[in-house]
Amino acid sequence: MISKTVSELFQENPKHQDVEVKGWVKSFRANRFIALNDGSTLRNIQCVVDFETMAEDLLKRITTGSAIQVKGTLVESQGKGQAVEIQVSGIMVLGDADPELVSKTILQPKRHSLEVLREQAHLRARTNTFGAVMRLRSSLSFAIHSYFNKNGFNYMHTPIITGSDAEGAGEMFRVTTLDPKNPPLTETGKIDYSKDFFGKETNLTVSGQLEAETYAMALGKVYTFGPTFRAENSNTSRHLAEFWMIEPEVAFMDLEGNMDLAEDFLKSVLEYILEHNATDLEFLENRLEQEEQTKPKHERSTMRLTEKLKFVIDNNFVRLSYTEAIEILKNSKPNKKKKFKYPINEWGADLQSEHERYLVEKHFKSPVILFDYPAQIKAFYMRLNEDEKTVRAMDILFPGIGEIVGGSQREERLEVLKKKMADLDIPEEELWWYLDLRQYGTAVHSGFGLGFERLVMFATGMGNIRDVIPYPRTPQNAEF
Ligand code: 4AD
Ligand code: MG
Repeated sequence: MISKTVSELFQENPKHQDVEVKGWVKSFRANRFIALNDGSTLRNIQCVVDFETMAEDLLKRITTGSAIQVKGTLVESQGKGQAVEIQVSGIMVLGDADPELVSKTILQPKRHSLEVLREQAHLRARTNTFGAVMRLRSSLSFAIHSYFNKNGFNYMHTPIITGSDAEGAGEMFRVTTLDPKNPPLTETGKIDYSKDFFGKETNLTVSGQLEAETYAMALGKVYTFGPTFRAENSNTSRHLAEFWMIEPEVAFMDLEGNMDLAEDFLKSVLEYILEHNATDLEFLENRLEQEEQTKPKHERSTMRLTEKLKFVIDNNFVRLSYTEAIEILKNSKPNKKKKFKYPINEWGADLQSEHERYLVEKHFKSPVILFDYPAQIKAFYMRLNEDEKTVRAMDILFPGIGEIVGGSQREERLEVLKKKMADLDIPEEELWWYLDLRQYGTAVHSGFGLGFERLVMFATGMGNIRDVIPYPRTPQNAEF
């Protein structure tokens, strides 16, 4: 007989048919009721054992965490809380789990803090919370690919090892095969990277954008969805050193088109999970609700998780220029009362997460797209506006998250781009191919980057980015 997954069993009509299922024991009550989970769904299937007919030493081996195979009859459940259950005819233990050892791990069925779960990240996927988060993560990835596929985008695999710093922030992990103890040196005593594996300095990519642009200028609509690396030493709940980014790039599209695309895209993928992941969302919503109850009243969220998702889907994002945002922030209560860690005094200030969250959570109570930022606080490739002070940048800010998307219309004018690079000391030799694009049929084009983990945080209500990726990479932490 072919084993079915628990999820498949729940979709079956119980007609006393023989079934077989494999999974891990969540609990075994009264020598009679096994709650079995196989990860296919949050729900456990109840397996009812007739202990009088079972060998005692077998019963003893059915312990929390053990892997078992169950054979039996699928019937309508006698008890409350589940539609179907299995009347067990045979059990085989596939992998034992010593209760003594299990009691020292997070497999022990009780509440564990997320911090403790992180220390046992190899086991945390067996908890309800992480099962739900990871199924949602998977579902969101699928929804993302599906959205772009439906809309005529080509999926591009941009390189992970690159020789450029796309964001110009210098936050790169070096890739080298040189001996750190005895590197070859140039005449002036610097490390001679011409002797390195690639014959030049290379690093892990901080963004696939520049390469995606070259393909957009040939295929029209492309997107990347890949790992991205940033050696920024920010130990926050929203930063990872290794994260996944989705970067669409479209030829002949301006910033307005870019905003429309980003908004439609975000709404569409959130709609997908509301439709397909109801069980997991409901579980996470209740979990979040309990967490909220432990907070002081004024800090509690007024919306439930799925309400938040629906709110984003059903409402237009507020669109507002950086200049307008600065005015609002300057005159805001927290700024006047000196509550911001970084007070907003003048135009040109970089916005911190506290400002972004004020705009989204307090002022507008809605997702916000900020655009036309000062040129000096944004990357070199963004298109300069007529005012020569601002660039066609856009950031999308989400409640509870802050910046979730960063994008722009790209500078397509060769001379303007060259001047910008010279001002910022970016050598033309490093990006000659990027400049070439501006010589051979240059055109208006735009794109954006969505931080995948920030999207998963929003969709699951998890408060720390370390809890929405299987194995987080953060400063001082690369365990597992
Ligand atoms: O705003 P960023 O730096 O934009 C770019 O990299 C552009 N090249 C994108 C483009 O236009 N194609 O990053 C984009 C998004 C951010 O809005 C944020 O959601 C996420 O990537 N992000 C991070 N997520 C987790 N950990 C980090 N350290 C992140 N840095 C950026
Ligand atoms: Mg950004």
